[in-house]
Amino acid sequence: MEATPTLWHEEMRLDYPPLDEEHVDFFKTVMKAAPAASSADFKTMDKVFLKCYDYARNHFAHEEDIMERIDFPDMEEHMKSHQMFIKHISDFRVAYENAKTLEDKQRVSIHTAEFLEVWFVGHLMSRDRLLKPYLVRLRNLPPRMNYHL
Ligand SMILES: [Fe+2]
Ligand SMILES: [Fe+2]
Repeated sequence: MEATPTLWHEEMRLDYPPLDEEHVDFFKTVMKAAPAASSADFKTMDKVFLKCYDYARNHFAHEEDIMERIDFPDMEEHMKSHQMFIKHISDFRVAYENAKTLEDKQRVSIHTAEFLEVWFVGHLMSRDRLLKPYLVRLRNLPPRMNYHL
């Protein structure tokens, strides 16, 4: 794995490399949002939005598939938090695209960056972290269902 971003801390690790790598990778995007928003760097903000959709499509699907296979008890609440992320990002994206002035676009970017930071750290520490003790169950699945363990 390449160097992890500076604000990352070890309690955010699930000790399960496939998910940890996706989290670290998205965290890098989250960390790019605030400086991009404050300098009105909309080229980077466009990439941040694309990466959010990519994260929702790939990472959430990956995590939800694992939760299903290991009979994770909190799956419903966890999926609600994923849905909440998709809803917020979609709303921000619509406001961003429809902004009438550059000031408006920057204001939406700042709110998006704030949401990303709060949601990402909050979700990882309160939801994703609950998965940690259950991930050991993956070791007991038949090989074709075995996720790199
Ligand atoms: Fe999650
Ligand atoms: Fe996650």
